[in-house]
Amino acid sequence: MSSTEHPFLDGTVKRLLIDGQWCEARTGRTFESRNPATGDLLATIAEGDAADIDRAVAAARRAFESGPWPRMLPAERQNILLRLADLLDARCEDFALLDTLDMGSPIRHTQGSVGLLAGVLRYNAGMARALHGETLHPSVPDMFAATVKEPVGVCGAIIPWNGPLWATVLKVAPVLATGCTLVLKPAEDASLSPLLFGALCLEAGVPPGVINVVPGHGATAGAALAAHLDVDKMSFTGSEVTGRKIVQASAGNLKRLSLELGGKSPNIVFADADLDAAVPAAAIAAFANSGQVCSAGTRLFVERPIAEAFAAEVARFAANLRIGDGRDPETDLGPLVSARQMSRVAGYIDGARAEGARVVSGGCRMSGAPWDAGYFMPPTVLADLCDEMQVVREEVFGPVVSVLPFDTAEEAVRRANATPFGLGAGVWTRDLARAHRLGRALRAGSVWVNCYNMIDPAVPSGGYKASGYGREYGTLHLEEHLQVKSLWFRTA
Ligand code: NAI
Ligand code: MG
Repeated sequence: MSSTEHPFLDGTVKRLLIDGQWCEARTGRTFESRNPATGDLLATIAEGDAADIDRAVAAARRAFESGPWPRMLPAERQNILLRLADLLDARCEDFALLDTLDMGSPIRHTQGSVGLLAGVLRYNAGMARALHGETLHPSVPDMFAATVKEPVGVCGAIIPWNGPLWATVLKVAPVLATGCTLVLKPAEDASLSPLLFGALCLEAGVPPGVINVVPGHGATAGAALAAHLDVDKMSFTGSEVTGRKIVQASAGNLKRLSLELGGKSPNIVFADADLDAAVPAAAIAAFANSGQVCSAGTRLFVERPIAEAFAAEVARFAANLRIGDGRDPETDLGPLVSARQMSRVAGYIDGARAEGARVVSGGCRMSGAPWDAGYFMPPTVLADLCDEMQVVREEVFGPVVSVLPFDTAEEAVRRANATPFGLGAGVWTRDLARAHRLGRALRAGSVWVNCYNMIDPAVPSGGYKASGYGREYGTLHLEEHLQVKSLWFRTA
């Protein structure tokens, strides 16, 4: 199959979406999108920079201040969100294949995401009609007080490449439900499905200027959006390093921020757990999407008596995962997204070896034909580690898991929490009291007991500590897009 077998990849330059129009970048510059499984050129994309971000923010401001969108009835916004969900379902194959081509994820994975994301849109469609303030009872005579919720205004969003459609829908859905407007800056390595989703928004009846999509580089377009004085709220998903820059850039107008940053999530397995369930789940927690998942369970704490055998079982399960081109429906693990990511991940594994770690399985880039054309790294299980090693402390964002034996529950919790991050955590045990204790003691935004990486449109997800602030999914996500206004009325 040729890489260009996709209705969106028709050889034309993919342009910026600003004010409902497809436009060239002001500089006329473009950049390439390539398939990380094959190196094939997929598309040439207009490269937005600060001037294009200015245009897009101006369009979003006009749409917010004088367009129909924030003034529409909640029921009208709900209908548009429902139409968008139906269109996404209908175009499931197109969106799934586009992400698979652009960043390598297996087609089964990208297809599954589309279904969940249509659910996110429908959840937000329901919430569009359920937003409300409160009536209050101040202890002041002859006064009535109430709150109303108002959209925060022009939002900016900067997203990563590890789930391009996923991140796009998560940023767009609450913006639409609350009556805000948006400028979205996709990642350099995966801009195609964000652009196609922009087109879908127009098709669903979202007015021009409400959703703008400006691909470009982080240091130019991204930095301009993050620092823009006319953006009321920024939402960023990506690395901790860039997250700090977003915080600094927000100081100019003290814009509201939400950050979904990295992790080094612990997954804790006790000897009494259902090991038949825990082994595959631990492997998938670490290796799904080739480890390019913010909440990946990369520190696998295993109770000492079973640690060695558990590591071997995880390695055996992983050895049966099929690695290959994501377009093949049999593929379990696709390539890493880019040469840069490959060298990062390989660097962490080499560093671990140099620090004395034992490579139980994997550990070397796959080479020869057809692997050389892409960036394929097999699932890698590391043992004989200590908590201070770089590979155990830092987010690798590749298919690498560190197996760490422990002796007591207290020790497991202490070591699990000894990280700057706090995104997710897993606990595997049949002991209900222990499960409750650990569920409370682990410092993470989500704790999964006898499961891992569960996601639902109604359940909030986000970080403790350096994993960020704010929550996505659920009602809290909508609240981040709302201002609360208190209204006081003299009644006598
Ligand atoms: P990154 O955080 O630099 O990129 C994410 C987004 O931020 C992209 O859209 C990029 O263009 C933008 N960006 C970069 N610099 C910017 C700046 N100065 N101002 C505004 N926007 C900027 O991540 P990158 O370089 O793609 O990946 C490096 C590492 O980051 C990965 O190996 C992984 O460890 C981590 N990462 C974590 C993610 C997560 O979801 N937890 C997602 C992506 C990366
Ligand atoms: Mg790409």
